[in-house]
Amino acid sequence: KNIVILISGRGSNMQAIVDAQVPGGRIAAVIANRADAGGLAWAAERGIATAVLDHKQFAGREAFDAALVALIDGYAPDLVVLAGFMRILTAGFVNHYANRLINIHPSLLPSFTGLHTHERALAEGVKFAGCTVHFVTAELDHGPIIAQAAVPVLDDDTPDALAARVLKEEHRLYPQAVADFVAGRLLIDGNRVKRSG
Ligand code: GRF
Repeated sequence: KNIVILISGRGSNMQAIVDAQVPGGRIAAVIANRADAGGLAWAAERGIATAVLDHKQFAGREAFDAALVALIDGYAPDLVVLAGFMRILTAGFVNHYANRLINIHPSLLPSFTGLHTHERALAEGVKFAGCTVHFVTAELDHGPIIAQAAVPVLDDDTPDALAARVLKEEHRLYPQAVADFVAGRLLIDGNRVKRSG
């Protein structure tokens, strides 16, 4: 199965997915919306095709997303993986990749959608935080949940300390979810994802 990974930054989740060498999965390309995304060089060094599509070169979201679809589809993806891709995607984009577009979010959804999740979790005083892998739908940080991992919030936590604890789980959870998708183990049933096998 061809996997295209979209990043905007360091791409540590992308690296975890690449390093996992998912059986039956081939990383067809890593695409960033910023030329300075650190993960691009890492991928290129490993012989993975990379591309940059700078959103600032486009008049609006629709135009950017249309160009992004054309670029991605050139790699004939079976799965498109958002890994720290910091752009809100249009409904047209999301619908084009329905049921083959996944994201990781650093909270236990549906709590703390959007940005600054760790700061907000600490401000709310929750005792558990975590991360969620989900299919992407038009509503931001919603869509059928594939997998979650929880971590404790400690009394002396800072946003950075909590983020690091969650990120460690992201690096375990996301490759597993990609492997489950590639192996055909995920069954979407309404808003629920069931795992077979
Ligand atoms: C991760 O915490 C991910 O959950 C969030 O953005 C961060 C990206 O980190 N969406 P990286 O680029 O994968 O290192």
